[in-house]
Amino acid sequence: MRIYGMATNRLRDPMGFLLNAPRLSYKVDQTDAKRQTAARIRIAMDAEMTALCFDSGKRADLDSLGFVPDLALTPRTRYWWDVEVFADDASSARSAPAFFETGKMQEPWAGQWITAPVVGNMVLTRRFTLPQDVRQARMYIVGLGLYELYCNGSKVGDELLAPFCNAYDRWIQLQTYDVGDLLVTGDNELRVMLGDGWYMGRFGFKGKRQLYGDAQALRCELHITLADGTRQTILSDTDWQATESPVRSASIYDGEAYDATFVPGLPMAAVPYAGLDDARLVDRLSPPVRVCQRLTPKEILTTPAGETVLDLGQEITGYLEFTTRAPAGTELKLSYFEILQDGNFYRDNLRSAQQIQTYIADGQPATVRPHFTFFGFRYVKLEGFTAARVSDFCGCVVHSDIVRSLTFSCANEKVNRLAENVMWGQRGNFLDVPTDCPQRDERMGWTGDAQAFSGTACFQMESQAFFAKYLYDMQQEQDKRQGSVPYVVPSVGVNGDGSCAWSDAATVIPWNLFLFYGDLELLRTQYSNMRDWVEWIYRTDEASGSKRLWHVGFHFADWLALDTKDGSAMGGTDMHYIASAYYYYSTSLLLKAAVALGYTQDIQRYTQLQAEIRQAIQREYFTPSGRLAQTTQTGYICALFMDFAPQEHRALLTRLLALDFEESNGQLRTGFVGTAYLCRTLSQIGLNALAYSLLLREDYPGWLYEVSMGATTIWERWNSVLPDGHMSDTGMNSLNHYAYGAVMEWVCRDVVGINPVEEAPGFRRALLKPLPDERLAHAEATYESAAGQYASAWRIDRDTFRWTVTIPFNATATLVFPRAEESTLRGLHPNLALAAQGGQLSATLDAGTYTFQYPLLPVGPQEQITVNCPI
Ligand code: BGC
Repeated sequence: MRIYGMATNRLRDPMGFLLNAPRLSYKVDQTDAKRQTAARIRIAMDAEMTALCFDSGKRADLDSLGFVPDLALTPRTRYWWDVEVFADDASSARSAPAFFETGKMQEPWAGQWITAPVVGNMVLTRRFTLPQDVRQARMYIVGLGLYELYCNGSKVGDELLAPFCNAYDRWIQLQTYDVGDLLVTGDNELRVMLGDGWYMGRFGFKGKRQLYGDAQALRCELHITLADGTRQTILSDTDWQATESPVRSASIYDGEAYDATFVPGLPMAAVPYAGLDDARLVDRLSPPVRVCQRLTPKEILTTPAGETVLDLGQEITGYLEFTTRAPAGTELKLSYFEILQDGNFYRDNLRSAQQIQTYIADGQPATVRPHFTFFGFRYVKLEGFTAARVSDFCGCVVHSDIVRSLTFSCANEKVNRLAENVMWGQRGNFLDVPTDCPQRDERMGWTGDAQAFSGTACFQMESQAFFAKYLYDMQQEQDKRQGSVPYVVPSVGVNGDGSCAWSDAATVIPWNLFLFYGDLELLRTQYSNMRDWVEWIYRTDEASGSKRLWHVGFHFADWLALDTKDGSAMGGTDMHYIASAYYYYSTSLLLKAAVALGYTQDIQRYTQLQAEIRQAIQREYFTPSGRLAQTTQTGYICALFMDFAPQEHRALLTRLLALDFEESNGQLRTGFVGTAYLCRTLSQIGLNALAYSLLLREDYPGWLYEVSMGATTIWERWNSVLPDGHMSDTGMNSLNHYAYGAVMEWVCRDVVGINPVEEAPGFRRALLKPLPDERLAHAEATYESAAGQYASAWRIDRDTFRWTVTIPFNATATLVFPRAEESTLRGLHPNLALAAQGGQLSATLDAGTYTFQYPLLPVGPQEQITVNCPI
């Protein structure tokens, strides 16, 4: 038996994070045992686990998804913990210790805010002497807008872009670093490089600067314990010196200019900086942002226009690192971009974002990278380089460092590439906030995009800690708006809030997190995001006639849908129908959360509200015989997926939706709202073959069109690039927009069939229900869930279906056998207690790996609708 994946708040050995009530989780594998019968968690002040401060005792109810110890935490303290697991086959194991370490918590600050007496990019320095060796040292630090800390010439930690992208007007995240190994007996130097970043550089719409502040500043406390136990602190104060930085300019959108020949003027004494209250400083929530992958570029080419262009071969977010020996004074210029046009450099779709990095060499060999920016790119135009070689460059992939949890492959290579592209979409856009895109002058936490993608995100990577920080920011923004949610979070000066599907991120994301990770404490925290948002819609409804519809306000609605009537970006489905649909949907999710948390009064309130909205929508939008007044694909999908259509008319709506596809030559017409649920709905309502047809379609509009066009990420538009290779538009056309990548949630849930279950969230129980289609012949996935690793792999060989599943320790799964006959299933496995339900055969199994092989029945008549499918 192996205990692995030990985490606190789903972070591995976190240091200096805001923990609140810490939730300890772990997983078990390499055992034939099926279940945990008891477990015991101990917490100690030492790695040897001798100085115990908490002992749960051996408990049958200890939950591996999130155990909350009854322990009051002290600031700046490391807690070691381990777990002993007892299993149903009498085996047991005890883990190696893991730890969590608190930050400053509520402790008052001794270090003060300091800044330079002049404006510009600054470097703050402090020299000091230590009389003897260091036993332990911790730095508690925050620099504004962005900072990098160096100790005796070495960068401290490998994180980039700290303190990240926050609603800085409400909270500023501080970081904790272990600097014990970098300090020496004798002379030491701390150096902090500062940049503008999101805090005060140009960001958001309309070229605004200084969104949150007008000066670079630093606050820190270095706590040192010397070898003999004496303590010493180095604080930010006016003993620090300020000099101008070789980073001559830096901006998130525009790039960075670094001058290695720059000779700063004489150092100036740092001055106190007033205006930032202590209450705003909060221990961090953001998972680390770092270089998570390094790619070798594909080639360096000369364009027809004579430019030298490096092709990375993959669109990424991050930067190029390069080595140079250029003579002193040489300016090297790198212009980052997404796509060649007519074989040449092209940047029109970046709008006002410059994405340029320059480096003025000082004649010394150097390895160069930018400090306070990042780029969305596949190509880089190189200027000033002589005889550039591929081996001088490295593509550094920068994102929030969270663990990948999905592997997928199938018989269709283009679908495999699509799956990779969706993964790249998450890597490229999970940079502290879930951004819409990483290249043009946006890169903001658009709520609608994040909401649509959140299920896929939870399949692909362990996303709980990442979204927990985003939802904390969201709550800050909601508190400023009586519960309403802005279009982007943090709001970075972008006006506007309360659009359906966008603001509903406040209910959809917390619910998805609970479904995937089963962390009840986190749901309790995020319940306020959910309730505040629904109550805001309710008040809006009350103020506009108490119709239990949401018939006012502006909504992005089915953004970028192809059925738009007037050429606008809003799609053809009435925005107030979609708004009312989300009023219903968000209330349903809130109700589910209230049930999970046992909030009796809220259960009553939202049960009633949900029923009233349902009635109102049915009255307003359905004819007595069941026709829907919104005859768009997205209209039908909302009614069926969000489940407010009259039960007795679902079959009719299914037929009408199928008819719509038939009339539109099997083409999807959906935008941001409809696309997220499109294939899932089709599979649920018996139009599974149609869902596969949409997935496999290689021409516009379809997911494989872009794959055929050589895309390495997901595009913003179904036709971002036209068949002749030209960009379809320059105004709003990104090649790395993950929203349509939401189709991967369907691939995971319905193609390979791995589903979370509401009654036992966190994959303590799963529903394994693949819906295969002969056109794919084979599909398989592994999913490292919160409860352990699931696998599902199927293959169709002539008429024989072979399906292998793995269920992790201490979990159960209900398997639904596709297109199976009872007689062929019986006897396949000794423990198979078959149940028949709604024409389908299922069985519930414990941990283990199981293979089933049986003849596939033909598809039902409805499932055969492939609707003019070209495949
Ligand atoms: C962004 C989107 C976003 C949308 C809202 C665009 O500019 O890139 O993805 O959700 O605006 O309308």
